[in-house]
Amino acid sequence: MIIAVDGPTASGKGTIARALAAHFGLPHLDTGLLYRAVGYQCGLDGGNPDDPAEALAATDFPDALLAEPDLRSEATGGLASRVSVHPSVRQALYERQRAFATQPGGAVLDGRDIGTVIAPEAAAKLFVTASTEVRARRRLHEMEESGRPARYEDILADLRRRDARDTSRSEAPLAVAPGALVLDTSDLGREEAIAAAIRMVNELTGQSPCP
Ligand code: DC
Repeated sequence: MIIAVDGPTASGKGTIARALAAHFGLPHLDTGLLYRAVGYQCGLDGGNPDDPAEALAATDFPDALLAEPDLRSEATGGLASRVSVHPSVRQALYERQRAFATQPGGAVLDGRDIGTVIAPEAAAKLFVTASTEVRARRRLHEMEESGRPARYEDILADLRRRDARDTSRSEAPLAVAPGALVLDTSDLGREEAIAAAIRMVNELTGQSPCP
């Protein structure tokens, strides 16, 4: 069974995808991390993330880079959003994601285009979202917890910029896939959001809920 979890940054989709993977006993791929690795590698190479050829060269990043803690930073998220607009970069990362999705037994993938491009045949497609203000507050909290204080206004502006770029790009823009259920986590706590996601997957795949 393939489960596709798409949504904007800081919507809770990563937490939900990991919880779904644990609940259904499936492997999980955070596809945003691949784009983050390309953006980060492009920076290491001194490349311009807005240049398609320089961004494409960075798709050759070593696998060990995926363990780099800096991939999770806001700055790398911005670079990832910029390299991800290039069709050649998306194409270069396609096979890796597709192979993960189609492995025997199934998988959970989270990203922006899983239900629309990578695995449109997924048994369950969720679109996880939350208001921009809630997402900015969550991101601020995460950063404070990890000892990287930031300004709410800066985070909000950055999220708006990234949302605009991710939804307006011509290639595989962030969009609700046909057949996807939308899960708005704005007013939900972590456990409530996870429980709602499990219910939705059961509903979409026709499985009876766990006792
Ligand atoms: O989910 P994230 O914040 O780690 O993703 C970082 C950027 O990568 C995001 O702004 C857009 C891009 N991305 C994408 O274009 N397609 C995906 N499947 C995953 C991420």
